[in-house]
Amino acid sequence: MKVLVIGSGGREHALVWKLRQSPRVTQLYCAPGNGGIAYEAECISADIKSLESLISAATRVQPDLTVVGPELPLALGVVDEFTRRGWRIFGPTRAAAQLEASKSFAKEFMQRHRIPTAHYAVCATNEEVRDALAHFSTPVVVKADGLAAGKGVVMAPTKEAAGAAAAEMLSGKMLGEAGARVVLEECLQGEELSFLVLSDGERVAPLVAAQDHKRAGDGDTGPNTGGMGAYSTPQIMAPEMVEWLLSHVARPVVAGMKAEGMEYRGLLYCGLMMTATGPHVLEFNCRFGDPETQPILMRLESDLLPALEASIDGRVSEGDFTWSSDSAVCVVLASGGYPGAFEAGKKIVGLEHASDIPGTKVFHAGTSKRDSAYYTAGGRVLAVTARAPSLEQAVAHAYEAIQNIGFEGMQYRKDIAARALVKS
Ligand code: AMP
Ligand code: GLY
Repeated sequence: MKVLVIGSGGREHALVWKLRQSPRVTQLYCAPGNGGIAYEAECISADIKSLESLISAATRVQPDLTVVGPELPLALGVVDEFTRRGWRIFGPTRAAAQLEASKSFAKEFMQRHRIPTAHYAVCATNEEVRDALAHFSTPVVVKADGLAAGKGVVMAPTKEAAGAAAAEMLSGKMLGEAGARVVLEECLQGEELSFLVLSDGERVAPLVAAQDHKRAGDGDTGPNTGGMGAYSTPQIMAPEMVEWLLSHVARPVVAGMKAEGMEYRGLLYCGLMMTATGPHVLEFNCRFGDPETQPILMRLESDLLPALEASIDGRVSEGDFTWSSDSAVCVVLASGGYPGAFEAGKKIVGLEHASDIPGTKVFHAGTSKRDSAYYTAGGRVLAVTARAPSLEQAVAHAYEAIQNIGFEGMQYRKDIAARALVKS
């Protein structure tokens, strides 16, 4: 079977790595892929911002199945276009992907279906923002409505700062169309968890939960990023909590989307804040998380391919996944300056020794290969991932592997999973 993975990050490398282990996969392609993915799949050029380009890539390789990594092609309607041509593809339609692509859509949907989430207001003008702010206490969370690649959320300590952040988003200067409307939200306190489920439009199957580390600096300081590291352990979520989230979040979302004529097939990522009054949904993503996918797939014992097919064919069941009782952790090595401006093209050294450590896999997030050397080609460069019987060992192995690797400006968090280690 020929499989095409769309995307070019650490998440896509993990998907390629896992799918390559499937006995039914005979040929694996990645569009556009990256330097490290090229070692495990044939990379083909494509622009993920263009449906035409993706259709042309699929026309060239004629895959039996396409798996979409990032949100942008889903929000543009790649699933609708491929399905219309009779091509099998994993992921939600454009209408269903609104759960991620429009925060106002997601908030209004959650309100209609009584899914626990922070109080909010949707505003299209500065006057509406001013009026709404009267009903909020500080800090206020200000979010651009559309896709903003992690740059669309501001925690405003005062109402003045909230008004200024909203005005900047509404002006369109910073985020363009994504900021045409803003969502103001009550600020929730607690631990964040990523809870992912596979859906076939009616039934759902949970994956193991993971915790991302979104801020750039140790101790959760500095700006928000796409994610600087993640871990998953058997203890991260009690079975009763999984059941609660299935019945109060995942199943109501999937049933609600179906009832509203937007059947949700694919991966539903529920970003949660575990507050003192119970879990609240911070956001939905319509795809696998990055970097959560790296440790999650490291813990997956069963074949990923049949699970993805079950989503397309309408036969998802809770037995689709078998998990290891090991723990896994992923530490992201980023370019100096990320999430702000950074320079690419720095030579990466030491990769060949990094995988010598048992249970360790270096996923490439933003690299290119020239001759036999790898160079940095993105903000997040490598996702060093380790699996071991205990979280402590997994963390030790990941950081040991990192000691081998270097490139100019390399930065990473030294405290991935540290809070969980203190608790255990
Ligand atoms: P989002 O893209 O909506 O997930 O927001 C990005 C990050 O901002 C989240 O992962 C949280 O760390 C934080 N965040 C978003 N909404 C809230 C909220 N209502 N209260 C507290 N933190 C939030
Ligand atoms: N790790 C957060 C995301 O994938 O959006």
